[in-house]
Amino acid sequence: MKTPLLEMKNITKVFPGVKALNNVSFQVAQGEIHCLVGENGAGKSTLMKVLSGVYPHGDYSGDILFGGEIQKFNGISDSEKAGIAIIYQELALVPEMTVYENIFLGNEIKSANGFTVDWNETIKRAVEALKKVRLDVNPAAKVKDLGVGKQQLIEIAKALSKEVKLLILDEPTAALNEDDSENLLNLLRELKNHGVTCIMISHKLREVIAIADTITVLRDGQTICTLDAKKGEVSESVLIKHMVGREIDNIYPSREHKQPGEIVLEVRGWNAYNPALGRDILKDINFNVRKGEIVGFAGLMGSGRTELALSLFGNPDGYRVSGEMYIKGEKKHFGHTSGAISAGMAYVTEDRKGDGLILIQDVKQNISLANLQEVANRGVVNENAEIKVANEYKGSLNIKTPSIEQKVSNLSGGNQQKVSLGKWLFVKPGVLILDEPTRGIDVGAKYEIYTIMTKLVQQGMSIIMISSELPEILGMSDRVYIVSSGKITGELPIEEATQEKIMQLATN
Ligand SMILES: Nc1ncnc2c1ncn2[C@@H]1O[C@H](COP(=O)(O)OP(=O)(O)OP(=O)(O)O)[C@@H](O)[C@H]1O
Ligand SMILES: [Mg+2]
Repeated sequence: MKTPLLEMKNITKVFPGVKALNNVSFQVAQGEIHCLVGENGAGKSTLMKVLSGVYPHGDYSGDILFGGEIQKFNGISDSEKAGIAIIYQELALVPEMTVYENIFLGNEIKSANGFTVDWNETIKRAVEALKKVRLDVNPAAKVKDLGVGKQQLIEIAKALSKEVKLLILDEPTAALNEDDSENLLNLLRELKNHGVTCIMISHKLREVIAIADTITVLRDGQTICTLDAKKGEVSESVLIKHMVGREIDNIYPSREHKQPGEIVLEVRGWNAYNPALGRDILKDINFNVRKGEIVGFAGLMGSGRTELALSLFGNPDGYRVSGEMYIKGEKKHFGHTSGAISAGMAYVTEDRKGDGLILIQDVKQNISLANLQEVANRGVVNENAEIKVANEYKGSLNIKTPSIEQKVSNLSGGNQQKVSLGKWLFVKPGVLILDEPTRGIDVGAKYEIYTIMTKLVQQGMSIIMISSELPEILGMSDRVYIVSSGKITGELPIEEATQEKIMQLATN
């Protein structure tokens, strides 16, 4: 057998209280696309951080061989020199900087005098790098003005601007729509044809099967198996079985669609104007939500669903909002999220890093954050009460952490999402808005979240679920609204909803 491009041998990495990697061995052949899958907290990101030198030599045990030679990376710049580039789970671009500045950040091209940056050359090379990823944007545009799909491609352009032999992508398509994902996967195939080897982590098993040459499954910090994806023996159910250690037949818990209760939330003639864009981003939105219902909001990314949720929740982000909202028949308008929370609303954001969680605080503090009065006595937080609540949610949401005293920044991506959910469930809202609730969540944990949603509506809560995943919309909703370009273009009872009908209304 040919020497593999990469060989990680018996890697063990311990954090206080957690053995994140336990004697993991992992091989990647030259020129292949190798996918790494496993449940939230299985150790995928950690393994890649060991490889790229984020955790330097000496911080782990075991050996890394790259190109047949033992490597002792002391930091990310060492692995970059060897030809390894990593794109993290959370994008690392600087939003306020331009595209070209971002591409060469940390890798600046110096002028002949050796002191200043050669901007002309930088821009020229940025244009070349953008061409390689077939991205047509102005290199002088600010990154924050581009969508996530484009930002992801800029990250890849940045990697390609160095001589990269092995490209690592940690959940690159988690936040991308179907088109942008397809684009990215095609780009990886093209890079492969040019000899670039690639490791990709993903929870989207369909795309893993579509793109992988080889798949390695991790579970609880150990390698479970490595499968040859080209042999056609790999299916989603096979992968799930290896990932969770048992079979899951139906990832949507069965739900009986009961006669819905009274209307708890009604929105009439809701508009939002974005002064920065100089146009309406929400136009004449009318909808209602009944007690005990899960109402799905389907649509393409960027259709305005998140803006709608935020504007109802009293956090309109600078937009000018007009229209009427009634909660249990009472007219409301929230100037601030605190008003919405006291009126019994909660919103779980799609962007847990943005306003979902305080990363430097621990799990228990984050869970009680939005409902402190429940764990406080006359304004003083009762730590025992806080601990009890946090342990309850740790159990029911199966949050993988050595303790509830762990800082949230130390949890794996999917487990951070679960903490964010726990925080808002503890508010015990009447109306819970979930924005892309299972983004970055593994299949087993998805089932847990769906089960919790089912239980909550049985108890009388109402849920608005914004989701770009049609199977999830169809599997969980009682009723579906479709949003397109800031307007509601249709409403379907679940019996009538199909992927085709929704897609047609979503692209109206
Ligand atoms: N900096 C850290 N400090 C302490 N524990 C950590 C740290 N980073 C990761 N861990 C722990 O190591 C384990 C593996 O985490 P890792 O981020 O590698 O999981 P993952 O497979 O990438 O999961 P996900 O799919 O949710 O992103 C988890 O139990 C996590 O809590
Ligand atoms: Mg991860």
